Amino acid sequence: MSEEKHLITEQHRYLPDPDMAQSTWVGDYEAAYAAYRADPEGFWEKIAHELHWHREWDRVLEWEHPHARWFTGAKTNITYNCLDRHVFGSRRNKVALIWKGEGDEDERIFTYRHLYIAVNKFANGLKKLGIHKGDRVCIYMPMVPEQIIAMLACARIGAVHTVVFGGFGSAALNARIVGAGAKVVVTADYAVRRGKSIPLKHLIEEAIINAPSVEHVVVLRRQTEQPIEIHREMEVDFYELMEGVDRRCPCEEMDAEDPLFILYTSGTTGTPKGIVHTCGGYMVGAYYTTKHVFDIKDNDVYWCTADPGWITGHTYVVYGPLMLGTTVLVAETLPDYPTPGNYWSILEEYGVNIFYTAPTAIRMFMKMGEQWPNEYDLSYLRVLGSVGEPLNPEAWEWFHTVVGKKRLPIVDTWWQTETGMHMITTTIGSPMKPGFAGRPLPGVAADVVNGNGESLPPGTAGFLAIREPWPAMMRGVFGNDEIYSKYWTTIGNLYKAGDLAIKDEEGYIMVIGRADDLIIVSGHNIGTAEVESALVSHQSVAEAAVIGKPDPLKGNLIKAFVTLRVGHQPSERLKNELTYHVRITLGPIAMPSEIEFTDSLPKTRSGKIMRRVLKARELGMDPGDLSSLDE
Ligand code: WT7
Repeated sequence: MSEEKHLITEQHRYLPDPDMAQSTWVGDYEAAYAAYRADPEGFWEKIAHELHWHREWDRVLEWEHPHARWFTGAKTNITYNCLDRHVFGSRRNKVALIWKGEGDEDERIFTYRHLYIAVNKFANGLKKLGIHKGDRVCIYMPMVPEQIIAMLACARIGAVHTVVFGGFGSAALNARIVGAGAKVVVTADYAVRRGKSIPLKHLIEEAIINAPSVEHVVVLRRQTEQPIEIHREMEVDFYELMEGVDRRCPCEEMDAEDPLFILYTSGTTGTPKGIVHTCGGYMVGAYYTTKHVFDIKDNDVYWCTADPGWITGHTYVVYGPLMLGTTVLVAETLPDYPTPGNYWSILEEYGVNIFYTAPTAIRMFMKMGEQWPNEYDLSYLRVLGSVGEPLNPEAWEWFHTVVGKKRLPIVDTWWQTETGMHMITTTIGSPMKPGFAGRPLPGVAADVVNGNGESLPPGTAGFLAIREPWPAMMRGVFGNDEIYSKYWTTIGNLYKAGDLAIKDEEGYIMVIGRADDLIIVSGHNIGTAEVESALVSHQSVAEAAVIGKPDPLKGNLIKAFVTLRVGHQPSERLKNELTYHVRITLGPIAMPSEIEFTDSLPKTRSGKIMRRVLKARELGMDPGDLSSLDE
């Protein structure tokens, strides 16, 4: 571990600009953390009191390892806190959403009143389709306001949404629809990318062939000139569904522990895991972290570049910022289209104050050059944020210098689909250290431990774990309590995050990467097993093993080793065919960048593919212990 120690003592340290650090916590991280440790339940209870509840809780926490129940007995509805509070309070005509498309004129603005009406009407529309509390609704849409309206409408009537990122292909979509048993799928005719329309609807048609739970498909037709055909026996137009319904739909009074949504994330088994989040605890965690980590002020314009199809979008595009009554920018655009200055031009145009993005985007900005951000007025910016994978020191320095002009705080937020909310970051006002996400937020008992759950001394790499339950923690893996329990029973009785990390003397945590078989490509979590099973589903493939290879831009790229069935010959053409096959089954984000044909794969005696051997060979490293390798 001597190398890591060296790395830590050589670290840079940036003190926050005193004028910039006007946060609720300025300089007070230690006090807030101590208050949490002194009375964890009291700490969370105080935060919960800032929100509206139809009925308050009997108990803050009931913890029967590994199952937690937060705010038991309480009744609430998260959309009351996202909408009604503002509309019937002081923000009725405040802008809630600014949607920005690729074209200069592509802009749509929703005040809180507009959003409230749209959500209420769509909620009543879902009721017309026979959707009740507890039913699952799959949302497979591009980044348009209707995607957010559909999510909130589900939450309003107690339907459980399961949002599937619009970049997934039909097989991945089918697995999620079937897994969740969705009764309704909400989709759109197309998404827009680099000036092109990407049709989505045919993917839905394929995805529901073997999905008997689906009763209706709601289709948003963005193309109004020549609208695509609606197959009335099953399908209904998004806006027609909202016609003739009441403009008010009362909130379903949800139990704090009722499910709010299921969000699928890649697992190590090849089958994605449906992470379940609940109404009360998730609401409190999303609210608290959005408020304190980003230090949002009432006049701020806030832009999180994530798609609502990921957890980052759920918590920090939709629920968190809307609960705070924030003006949220949503952009269906890419960093480098139509010009490499696109994001900077948006930041200038809308006077964005808080900009939350991903390391993969930051590395792309670096590659395109600082002349692009330098061309725009970014002086409105107050807070920069990053999420999804480690923000390497080089990218941190660039973001801080070129975008933050050496003044702005960077909140590098570590968390997961499973945690529901930020867990580790450098709070505004604390010294910043490039390469380190930061310290556990008050309310979060994160630590770096050995395999038995014992705390490791500074400078020693180990497992990232959480010692105590927190309100926004997942309550389960849909339909699989065994997988859920594993999170809390593998390392003593702590929550195992699956990441490796290292702590320094001041308790700052550097996240090194995944400890298991997940590859993070451009901030997206791809399961090796998912890509492998997609490859093996091709008629020419006998076996496949997939590894991640470090890549300066994407963080990692996917390399696949493939053995062919007899009668099939390796060829460039077959490589292309296999890549295409993964594209249509899993979607473009899971496509291998490299494919190598091989006669055999290294395996353990029990037949498990030893990916680390392939990876070591590929990267010219020591493969480590080979005793279990089958010759
Ligand atoms: C995994 C969770 C939660 C938002 C997006 C991804 C990695 C996430 C950081 C960060 C280092 C990070 C971890 C984590 N990760 N944020 N700031 N620094 N690594 O959600 O798909 O559930 O992936 O992303 O490896 O376990 P997710």
